[in-house]
Parts: sequence; structure tokens; C-alpha cells
Amino acid sequence: MESMKILVVDDEAPVREMIEKGLSQMGGYNVEGAQSGPEAIEKMEKDVFDLVMTDLKMPEMDGLELLKMIKGMRPEVMVILMTAYGSIETAVEAMRIGANDYITKPIDLNELLIHISKAQKESLLLRENRLLRMEVRKKFEFNNIIGKSKKMQEMFSLIEKVAPGNSTVMIYGGSGTGKELVAKAIHYHSPRADRPFIPFNCGAIPETLVESELFGHIKGAFTGAIQGKRGLFEEANGGTLFLDEISNILPSVQVKLLRVLQEKEVMKVGSTERTKIDVRMIAATNENLEENMKKGKFREDLFYRLHVFPIFLPDLKDRKEDISLLAYHFLDLYSKEAKKEMKGISKEAMKLLLEYHWPGNVRELENVIERAVIMADQDTLVPNDLPKDLTQGFSEMIKKGVRDRKSLEDIKSEYIREILKEVRGNKRVASEILKVNPRTLYRFEKKSQPA
Ligand SMILES: Nc1ncnc2c1ncn2[C@@H]1O[C@H](COP(=O)(O)OP(=O)(O)OP(=O)(O)O)[C@@H](O)[C@H]1O
Ligand SMILES: [Mg+2]
Repeated sequence: MESMKILVVDDEAPVREMIEKGLSQMGGYNVEGAQSGPEAIEKMEKDVFDLVMTDLKMPEMDGLELLKMIKGMRPEVMVILMTAYGSIETAVEAMRIGANDYITKPIDLNELLIHISKAQKESLLLRENRLLRMEVRKKFEFNNIIGKSKKMQEMFSLIEKVAPGNSTVMIYGGSGTGKELVAKAIHYHSPRADRPFIPFNCGAIPETLVESELFGHIKGAFTGAIQGKRGLFEEANGGTLFLDEISNILPSVQVKLLRVLQEKEVMKVGSTERTKIDVRMIAATNENLEENMKKGKFREDLFYRLHVFPIFLPDLKDRKEDISLLAYHFLDLYSKEAKKEMKGISKEAMKLLLEYHWPGNVRELENVIERAVIMADQDTLVPNDLPKDLTQGFSEMIKKGVRDRKSLEDIKSEYIREILKEVRGNKRVASEILKVNPRTLYRFEKKSQPA
């Protein structure tokens, strides 16, 4: 087994040396020392440590501050705090900030070993979790669609049921929920799998061209039709045509589409000749088609022809169980692409991913992770790697550290002083500006006077 790399941070050289010597004699440990927080950070920037043991009371930067910085920098590094005071409050505070363990001084080497092996096990467990996750993901994957939520699992079985037949499928879902992915899964689970799958976005080309795109046209059918053209229905013959954003098609095309569905034949624009086709149709929309139909924007007969087998894709915010699975899936995908070795996602970053409302659904999550992988300075994604929408200033605060932030009291006092200075100490005027009782200002002055 590889030896464990440990960094011991203490301003007292004898303590450092005792631990360094003691552990080195045991074997299996590679120990280095640092005499201050800044020195420890410097070492951690250059080298990868599995465990940091830090003293609590140190000049420059105390153990709690160092702990915060380590957890912001490399959340996967285990931290054991050494405290001479054994005060339970400090220990609780340390654990809350993310310390893995604490030990009281004077250090007993045997006791220390127990704590180290506990941390070692914990860190191993984290790594195993990650491997396990990859296994689990395979289990929850269906034709590149990932989801362990009940809603997605139900959808997988729907897909399996509907795929083998020829029925038209209508997929409903918000943007980025995976409509195209589902359409493909249906196609590739059908007997048509080795025939073409042709996607067509009904909203992406000018309305006037949709008809000729879908059904084709003959030479001279309209100005500019210098040559005849096969339509997508013919291209997709034997396979599947995926009509995306179907709510966008004009009523004139809706009539023709209805005929294709009923008669299974197409007529090119400008021609009266009918061609038999065998195409399975899958349509998708992020609108409420039934609502559109009721408003007269979508033909009723076409609606019922399409709505034979509806599939509703849930929004990501309504299946939070899928978020971590998807996030790890995209993490692996994009770290391979970026040729970066990414170990995982920190607890804090995952919390933000889980709390966000994802208006752009899976596509947005995918984009966020892709960007985060590029941004990441370490092998673990941290809040700082995520866009502002998700962190809302949270990352800035972590980065600057809690230590150099002002408290509300500080700001209040500063402001009171500023106003008092402005009105040359006139407490009556100051109290009017500050909308407080003048007595408050007297109390303030008395309190802030040096004793
Ligand atoms: N369940 C999922 N598992 C893995 N990847 C997914 C899943 N859902 C969506 N994606 C990915 O998210 C992106 C968007 O998916 P897709 O294009 O199928 O969504 P859509 O509903 O058609 O979106 P839009 O409304 O924007 O057209 C794709 O890159 C797709 O691979
Ligand atoms: Mg789409």
C-alpha cells in the first residue's frame, strides 16, 4: 500500500518533531512539517497530502482558519485538529466547519495512530463511494438516459413498452429535459434501429420552407426550386422521423401532416403524385399542445392523431434524486474531454447543485458542469467553479474567508462614527439622521471610549 502523506502544522518545533519522528518510525507514513498556516498552504499547493494535522493556537493564522482554507481548497483532504485546551466548544466548532476529527494535547502517539487510521478509513470510504457511484450509474442508465428517480424509471419502462411497435409517440417536456434523447431511445429500441433516425426542428427554419423540407418538392414547384428534392419523410423511410417543436407548424402544414399519418403517403410540393412511405413518427413540444388546440392554434384531429402515446418528461427540479447522478456523469464526460483528472464534487458544491431550480433542466446542468470542469483549479469541483446564478455570492465569501469580513456590529459602529463626525458630534442631529434615540448615541460613545 502507498504510504500516507501527512502534513503536521504546529508553531512549536518539538511537537512537530515528536510526531514526525514517531510516525516515521512506524513506517507507512510520509510526514512533513510546517510551522504556520501560510507555510502549510504553500506546501499544499505544491504537494498532495492525504491528511493535515494542525495545532489550534498559532500566530498569523489559527487552526480553524487554516481548516477553512483547506476545506475550500481541497475538500477531500482529511483534517485533524490538535488542541491543547480540549475545550469542547472549539472541537464542536471545528467539526462544524469540516474537521474530520480532533485530538487533545499533549499528544499520545498511540492515541494519535487510532485517529489517523480512522481518518484513513474515512478517506478510503469516500473514494469507494465514488467508484460505487459509477457502478450505480450503469444500473440507472437506459440508452444514455440517466435517472434513478421513480419518474424516470417509470419512463424507461414506458419507452420499452412503446418502442417495439409503430405507434406515434408524443413527448412533452420543458426545455432541456431530454426529449430528443427519449426519441432516440425509442428508435434504437425498435425494429427500425438500423434504419435512419431523422430529427427535424419545426421551429428552426422559415415557415414557408417547412413543407418542402418535410414532403419534398418537384422542379419548378416555386420560385427558386431549380431542382426537385426528396423530403425528410422519404429520407426517413423505414425508420423514424422526429418532429421537434411540433407546436410551431403552420395550419396548412398541419393538414398535410394529418394526411401522412392517416394515409401513410406523401405528396411533394407541386405534385399530385402520391408516394407510399413507412415512417414512424415521434413528436415533441415544450408547450401545452392541448391548450393550443383549445385556443384553436393546433388542429384537433391532428392533436388526437399525435397524442396516441404521450410521454411526459419531468423537470429536473422535480426529480432531485437524479441531480448527483447526472452531475457525476457529466463530470466524467467533460473531464475526459478537457483531459483533466477530476476526483469529484465537494459537498458544498453538490449542495448548491441540489438547491438550484434548474430552469434549463438537464441541458443547463450539463453546461454548468462542463464550464466548472474548465474552471476548476483542483481535482474537486468547489462552489467557486459554479456560475454566479448558483452561488449568489456564496463563493466570494468563502474565498475571502470569514476572517476578513466585517460584522454587522462593526459596520454599525463605523457608520455611527461617520455620521457623528459629519455633524461634528451633534448627537441630536445625528440621532435624527440615524433615526435612533439620542440616548443610544450617548451609550455608544461611552461604550467605545477606551477604559
Ligand atoms: N436523463 C438524461 N441523462 C443524460 N443526459 C441527459 C438526460 N436528459 C438530458 N440529457 C442531456 O441534456 C441535453 C439536452 O437533452 P435533449 O436535447 O434531449 O433535451 P430536449 O428536451 O430536446 O431540449 P430542448 O427543449 O432544448 O430541445 C443533451 O446533451 C442530453 O444528452
Ligand atoms: Mg430538443
